[in-house]
Amino acid sequence: MDQAQNVVDPGTLSPRAVSLRQHWDVLPGTVLTAIGERTGRIDRVVPAETGYSSHIAATLDTERGRIFVKGMRDRDGLARTQQTEAAVNPHVSSIGPRLLWRVVTDGWDVLGFAHTEGRTADFGQSSGDLPLVVATMAELARISAPGPDLPSAEDRWSGYTDRQTDAALLRGDSLLHTDWHHTNLLVTPDHRMHVVDWAMAARGPVWIDPACWVVWLVYSGHPAQEAERWAAKVRSWSAAPDGALDVFSSVLARYWQDIGANHPNTMTYRLRDAAAAWAAHRHARA
Ligand SMILES: Nc1ncnc2c1ncn2[C@@H]1O[C@H](COP(=O)(O)OP(=O)(O)OP(=O)(O)O)[C@@H](O)[C@H]1O
Ligand SMILES: [Mg+2]
Repeated sequence: MDQAQNVVDPGTLSPRAVSLRQHWDVLPGTVLTAIGERTGRIDRVVPAETGYSSHIAATLDTERGRIFVKGMRDRDGLARTQQTEAAVNPHVSSIGPRLLWRVVTDGWDVLGFAHTEGRTADFGQSSGDLPLVVATMAELARISAPGPDLPSAEDRWSGYTDRQTDAALLRGDSLLHTDWHHTNLLVTPDHRMHVVDWAMAARGPVWIDPACWVVWLVYSGHPAQEAERWAAKVRSWSAAPDGALDVFSSVLARYWQDIGANHPNTMTYRLRDAAAAWAAHRHARA
């Protein structure tokens, strides 16, 4: 094969370039009418600046106030994450914006949330937001997973374990967020943290969330050892049975490698490298 054919234009690898986002105007009239019945007149639509998985994500200024809307075309099972968000929402009202309504019609599944006024969290090494994340995770750790329909950590990750027996480590009944991207955490002007984007929520052992956070911290520039030091401030980190974090670091390294291969972009590549760095750190000292 011609070498040139293998060269990927870096422009096509930016998360923006692979974003699934569409313009508000793609929503059919039936969906807009159903949304309007909940919101009253819509005066302004401001597309979300961060994230890229939802087909529609925007802040709306409406007759009844400001809301945040997130919509997916209900095709090929793509919108099943909307069900996860809807199922989890009533259980996390202490740490996240409330779901106000859901519209499922004409091929679309749209969620309307209370709008959180705030900025996205900063995971930088000297950021004052890191203790807030620790406190937020501690609060989440107290919440049990709702209903049997929530995806399980075991289902998501057992395919990435070395040994069948390791899959048992992924069983648990805590509610997990798992997607600790800094843009999924909003810091309000009164310095509270709201966790959004529960699309990847799962049921599993409580130590999984701080473990997932390690990868996002390394991605944000922390050396693996320092990232672990932050994660270890979350009490549930120490609930991990012996060897579980070693196993899970390898699981995440394979998982993110897979995600990078199937969704190539600069962000997934950096996450792949961050997860590999954490696994290497753990296994170097094991
Ligand atoms: N209730 C809310 N109020 C204000 N802003 C919000 C709210 N929910 C989400 N956002 C902002 O919108 C962005 C996109 O939302 P979200 O992450 O839920 O969807 P997404 O783009 O589908 O996710 P991703 O691509 O990260 O998987 C978030 O990064 C956050 O900054
Ligand atoms: Mg997000």
